[in-house]
Amino acid sequence: MAEFSLPNNSKILKGIYYKDKTGSKNIKKVNVYRWNPDDGKNPRIDTFEVDMDDCGPKVLDILFKIKNEIDSSLTFRRSCAHGVCGSCAMNVDGVNTLSCIKSHSDIKGELNIYPLPHLKVIKDLIGDLSNLYKQYESIQPWIKTSKTDTEKQEILQSQNDRAKLDGYYECILCACCSTSCPSYWWNGDKYLGPAVLLQAYRWISDSRDEEKKERLKKVADELKLYRCHTIMNCTNSCPKGLNPAKAIGSIKKMLATS
Ligand code: SF4
Ligand code: SF4
Ligand code: FES
Repeated sequence: MAEFSLPNNSKILKGIYYKDKTGSKNIKKVNVYRWNPDDGKNPRIDTFEVDMDDCGPKVLDILFKIKNEIDSSLTFRRSCAHGVCGSCAMNVDGVNTLSCIKSHSDIKGELNIYPLPHLKVIKDLIGDLSNLYKQYESIQPWIKTSKTDTEKQEILQSQNDRAKLDGYYECILCACCSTSCPSYWWNGDKYLGPAVLLQAYRWISDSRDEEKKERLKKVADELKLYRCHTIMNCTNSCPKGLNPAKAIGSIKKMLATS
């Protein structure tokens, strides 16, 4: 029987243990994935003892506390800190989520923080989203209209048509869904994945857009679309409560009935 093993340099090692220096009685152990492309070493899990009496309520607050007070080299993305920009997405205790809206008090015991799964790691908690952004660009996420510049100033939409975008326009492209999708893990170079397909559906459904048919034709592909096997991990992991699996189902239905 064939045996598979990970290359030595991909094995995650035990890292540095940072003991609390404050004497606090309210300590949380936080295990964080670390990898630095510049030191040639294996990835490791560092453990930080964090004083929770002097920490904000979210997982992002813990990361800032570690960075500001314990190890300034800890690297992660964030911008808005209010669940709007999507940049702080990571895997917290086995679930993809936005660290700025995830309460650490929800997690009993030790806290485990990793980058989003199945992405090439750039450093520590930062995954490489270049492929997803290229795929996003490929669906041309802007209104296509033949109207002239003056007419383009405002294109009216009925309340009903506007309501058709609810549940889709709110997507912040955090990639929690795509990186929890097994089909995207294995075929992410070809399969567009739930985040990009939800965005594709958002533009297909926009009454102001004049290229619905062309957009549908573009995604009607065995690899780009039909790699979705309705496993639903995507919908379960969306921190904004959206339903990418439903959007994908709607595209398939449109294709079947058009
Ligand atoms: S559908 Fe949800 S999980 Fe997926 S990218 Fe959009 S906001 Fe993030
Ligand atoms: S429903 Fe489709 S897109 Fe969502 S996790 Fe499953 S295979 Fe991936
Ligand atoms: S920092 Fe913007 S969503 Fe978390």
